[in-house]
Amino acid sequence: MNNQKFNKIYSTQRKRVDNKFETLLKGKSPASLYQPCEYIIIGGGKRLRSFLVMLSAFAVGGKMDSVFNASLSVELLHNFTLVHDDIMDNSDKRRGQPTLHKKYDVSTAILAGDSLIALAYKYLLKDCHDNNIKRVVEIFTNGVIEVCEGQSYDKEFETKTNVNIKDYLLMIKKKTAILLQTCCEIGAVLGNGDEKEIKALSNYGLNLGMAFQLQDDYLDIFGDESEFGKSVGSDLVEGKKTFLFLKAIEKAKGKDLGSIKYILKNNGIERNQIPEYKNLYLKLNVNKEIEKEISKYTKRALGALKILHDDKSKNILIWLANQLLNRKS
Ligand code: IPE
Ligand code: IPE
Ligand code: MG
Ligand code: MG
Ligand code: MG
Repeated sequence: MNNQKFNKIYSTQRKRVDNKFETLLKGKSPASLYQPCEYIIIGGGKRLRSFLVMLSAFAVGGKMDSVFNASLSVELLHNFTLVHDDIMDNSDKRRGQPTLHKKYDVSTAILAGDSLIALAYKYLLKDCHDNNIKRVVEIFTNGVIEVCEGQSYDKEFETKTNVNIKDYLLMIKKKTAILLQTCCEIGAVLGNGDEKEIKALSNYGLNLGMAFQLQDDYLDIFGDESEFGKSVGSDLVEGKKTFLFLKAIEKAKGKDLGSIKYILKNNGIERNQIPEYKNLYLKLNVNKEIEKEISKYTKRALGALKILHDDKSKNILIWLANQLLNRKS
């Protein structure tokens, strides 16, 4: 199987998720709740988390179809996290469109987020059976709790001046990586994988998730806004303690260190200062540091797959990890 075939499998599954979401909430009342929910779930997205559920089931000998509802479920949960995250991060743009709270208002966005979690459980339960329901619901619920903890650290760190790389890695593990791990575990459990297979896919998801958030932080400043779909430079504006920032403060000296410390003092920068700080990051070579870190976690993700037997599904998972390395959005 070549890359073109993997791409075809991915785009087919992505389209299936998109198509289902197109009709999921159509015409439902009250429109004041369901139209905003629909706005976020049909507004695009890579459907990565759905694909991970399906691939993980497939990798242990299950059918992608048998976990389709669970794959919708994790995507619904992910969209909830995005809606609330955009309020918390003062973000105006997502997937090239106004964020939900900008298009509507904050109250609408909070409630839409709440109902997306409930909807996520509803779809998860559709694919559970007597022999796995408790385990799957536990994995999923734990994923929700971890995201909240991670998001709390993320906000706390905005105004904290002594965050270190270890703190950062724990924060991104919780806010992002564990959800990808959750997707893989759920797929593997629902697909009736054995414990070794579940563990392998779980490790793959976790490490892929670490690489994924590091890459998101990289794209936040070095990405192209029209492709990325979010406002470039937002992490600097919000005073986020990203890997780039923490490496920059470690490496900068003299006047450059003063510029980095300015971010700490002011809990962020103004939008018109973004180009200046992007250049400073380049001067300090922190883009290279983060690239090394991304490839470290990607290698760990790939290493975790070694014990899997089915070459076809294993090769898609390898392909996916490499695709994400080159992503622009
Ligand atoms: C964005 O996730 C949030 C992060 C964890 C970085 P994605 O980049 O997967 O968002 P969509 O669903 O594809 O838009
Ligand atoms: C993603 O972190 C965390 C979530 C749980 C949604 P970010 O705040 O960096 O995600 P984006 O960049 O807004 O998508
Ligand atoms: Mg955030
Ligand atoms: Mg955000
Ligand atoms: Mg981001």
